[in-house]
Amino acid sequence: MTCFIKILFIVLCCQLCACKPKLNTAFAWKQLSYEIDGVLYNKDTNLRVRPNAIYFDNDVPDDEKFFIQYNNVPSGVEVYKDRVFVTVPRRRFGIPSTLNYVRLSSDKAPVLKPYPDSRNDQLVSLYRPRVDACGRLWAVDTGLLEVPDARTQLQKPSIVVFDLKTDRLLLKYELKDSDLISERSPGGLTSITVDVTANTCDDAYAYINDLATEGMVVFSLRKLDSWRIEHETFKHDPTALNFTVGGNVITWRDGLFSISLSEPDQHGTRLAYYHPMVSLNEYTVTTDFLKTPGRTPTFKTLGTRGPLTQSGMHGYHAGTRTLFYANPAQDAILCWHVTNKMAPENVAIVVQDHKKLLYISDLKVVGDDVWVLVNQMTRFIFSTLDVSEDNFFIHRANVKDLIRGTVCEHRGDDGKIVFQDY
Ligand SMILES: *[C@@H]1O[C@H](CO)[C@@H](O)[C@H](O)[C@H]1NC(C)=O
Repeated sequence: MTCFIKILFIVLCCQLCACKPKLNTAFAWKQLSYEIDGVLYNKDTNLRVRPNAIYFDNDVPDDEKFFIQYNNVPSGVEVYKDRVFVTVPRRRFGIPSTLNYVRLSSDKAPVLKPYPDSRNDQLVSLYRPRVDACGRLWAVDTGLLEVPDARTQLQKPSIVVFDLKTDRLLLKYELKDSDLISERSPGGLTSITVDVTANTCDDAYAYINDLATEGMVVFSLRKLDSWRIEHETFKHDPTALNFTVGGNVITWRDGLFSISLSEPDQHGTRLAYYHPMVSLNEYTVTTDFLKTPGRTPTFKTLGTRGPLTQSGMHGYHAGTRTLFYANPAQDAILCWHVTNKMAPENVAIVVQDHKKLLYISDLKVVGDDVWVLVNQMTRFIFSTLDVSEDNFFIHRANVKDLIRGTVCEHRGDDGKIVFQDY
């Protein structure tokens, strides 16, 4: 009997508190495979298989190989209904498709399919796409074949927008030369943040980070125009260099990395929260200034997150007014409640895992879930991935589960977590 009560107690405790795993692994891949036009590519393949073609077993140089499996490292994730988008930037040879999707309902390691279809090879290289409130998928195609010792700008960098209801390309907008400051700029265009509501779909703005030459590019869909904004706070902080990931010292000088938007005020203006990767600070600027650069600048330094908080992507959850940060320096996801003062004591680790969160390459808040894509980028660059174990992950975590018991959890008079629907 006492044993029964003990077991009952343990079961109840596990349901109520910390035993519940915060991270749910949606997908885990040892290596990526593709299905293109009904053909499965799950090992190195010299040439694309085309119906009725005759193949000779000739040697093909690496730069002409269709698929070199080891070189395929995923970078970005987005979620729309049952589809999960996975990007693979062309940083090596042998990447058959840079924009892909899998179904949420698939098995643990699904093959990637090109999005929207196998004719997407006019897309060169995409990092972190974004789904907007109007059912559209936005991405920056850097146009850059970013292979070490063979960097080639194949196309001008451009914004591409797909309609997710029809899977048609709605827009391809080439950035202007004045949006970029050097031949290094295109490689820095690694994310896009879309400022739009479901009622103003034609009047969208997009904010693109340039981590390489440390600026921001703003795009207006209505004006079909774009412009560059420079500011000191977009630049990396030399005193925040040299954090370690998986034992490797990271010396990258990445500037502006992530831009995340608050809910709009009554005038439609939002706060854009942003930071360089190499920085411990968080900054804001109001979107009315970004949209109308002639206005008085509204840049503000909020404060510091604390030691080892160098962060990649971050995402805002309006319902709990919480920002979630990908934190490669600690293999962790951090939180900060935006009504708390930005200071180290108000920034908490919500989950940490030295294997399953080794280099969070992308983080998106979708509904009431935080999604992350983990790719062990530093192991790929500094050593070698073990292809017999899981190397790439997409995890999903519920916002309330993440913040429970942390400084980011705000409870109302009824004792419940303050949570609003948006
Ligand atoms: C980072 O490492 C470089 C090379 O070892 C060194 O010169 C620099 O002072 C270091 N910076 C910081 C902030 O630790």
